[in-house]
Amino acid sequence: CEYQDARPLRQRLLVVANRLPVSAVRRGEDSWSLEISAGGLVTALLGVKEFEARWIGWAGVNVPDEIGQKALTRALAEKRCIPVFLDEEIVHQYYNGYCNNILWPLFHYLGLPQEDRLATTRSFQSQFAAYKKANQMFADVVNKHYEEGDVVWCHDYHLMFLPKCLKEYNSNMKVGWFLHTPFPSSEIHRTLPSRSELLRSVLAADLVGFHTYDYARHFVSACTRILGLEGTPEGVEDQGRLTRVAAFPIGIDSDRFIRALEVPQVQDHIKELKERFSGRKVMLGVDRLDMIKGIPQKILAFEKFLEENSHWRDKVVLLQIAVPTRTDVPEYQKLTSQVHEIVGRINGRFGTLTAVPIHHLDRSLDFHALCALYAVTDVALVTSLRDGMNLVSYEFVACQDSKKGVLILSEFAGAAQSLGAGAILVNPWNITEVADSIRQALTMSCEEREKRHRHNFAHVKTHTAQEWAETFVSELNDTVIEAQLRTRQ
Ligand code: ADP
Ligand code: F6P
Repeated sequence: CEYQDARPLRQRLLVVANRLPVSAVRRGEDSWSLEISAGGLVTALLGVKEFEARWIGWAGVNVPDEIGQKALTRALAEKRCIPVFLDEEIVHQYYNGYCNNILWPLFHYLGLPQEDRLATTRSFQSQFAAYKKANQMFADVVNKHYEEGDVVWCHDYHLMFLPKCLKEYNSNMKVGWFLHTPFPSSEIHRTLPSRSELLRSVLAADLVGFHTYDYARHFVSACTRILGLEGTPEGVEDQGRLTRVAAFPIGIDSDRFIRALEVPQVQDHIKELKERFSGRKVMLGVDRLDMIKGIPQKILAFEKFLEENSHWRDKVVLLQIAVPTRTDVPEYQKLTSQVHEIVGRINGRFGTLTAVPIHHLDRSLDFHALCALYAVTDVALVTSLRDGMNLVSYEFVACQDSKKGVLILSEFAGAAQSLGAGAILVNPWNITEVADSIRQALTMSCEEREKRHRHNFAHVKTHTAQEWAETFVSELNDTVIEAQLRTRQ
């Protein structure tokens, strides 16, 4: 975890996110080991160095006893992390329930499965109560560690209630809130029973940020249509108070990936991979094993490609690295079985005694192994059904400056707005279109690949995580100063 290396500069930043950048694993009564957490939020924020930052969040584990809590707090302090301890029941209702079974599918335009609809409607009130309670627990920890002048930056759909709780503690606190997922059309948001309460609490922040202009626009229209407030080019106004709303597209620490390719261990690994897959084009998918990532659709499109292009069958391999996520939620368990079933069927159908067309791994790869894989890939497949931004596409581009491989990218990922000119954009629901784009990518001329890559590489190099954070924090500072000036006038 590089978060500990943050250099002190300017002002203190309190980053508040449901998940800490490290997840804790208990090794004994008072001993813990810490492992890097997976996900775009963690990746992006670990790329932000130039602040004196503390990170407040949940360590992904239930710690009921005081000895364990004290030991974990000490271990995390070395990483500049501060834990929020959530008990099992809260995690079940707030994280598995309200966050991952209600808000997550809703914000990604994926309805609840038929059999869950009624059950979810029944458990809605208790889950929302747990959500508010959890947000209040985060607010208590922030309030305890807050010093005057700090910027408090709240992240994601888990903490929509937090800005309100924080402003109730201290109306002078500088509070920003950023959403890492899409914000859906107001027609979707208005189906949520807690629609107004959530919007009002987010509006308590001074600055509200989204990955794309479309998500920001959806949020403003939800506030105007559902709350009857006034939307302005600056944001949302409520009785003279302005909440600034804007788009801040996230990025990665691209230099970290580019530098990693020079590390001898990575170069050895690249050599091994090239030998291992020699004579075959390498296609790659790297995702959390989440229904929004469109993994079954991607694999079915690959099957269609193999079906229709028999001469490619022994010349291409798909590596799908899918780290398990939210494994206590039944929908995710079903997805895992579904993916295994499809992969098994296709490998049975097209495999030989010496090779299979799909290598599917249910696991997380370490940073260097991931960079090596990105570097040897000919075609990356990002087929999210919806995705806030999708940083895997950025990481792939960062590692491709010598190979200039092709990115096939879902038009429903936020990244389509930044990498669309260099990628082949697809509708992931259209398996025929994705299969055709695989053929197009595998047969694309060097000149065309070079041209597309140049466009995307320039974007990934300049729009970094650091620039994203600096822009957000400086806009938050300006917004607060402007509001103070307005009040004085
Ligand atoms: P999300 O935030 O929804 O997970 P992103 O694509 O924005 O999606 O970010 C995913 C992050 O998690 C990336 O930094 C990626 O490298 C990492 N990641 C995803 N799957 C794996 C995996 N199997 N092994 C290692 N890292 C992974
Ligand atoms: O990008 C959306 C997000 O929810 C992030 O907040 C998080 O980094 C990632 O997905 C992983 O999810 P979880 O924290 O539930 O494992």
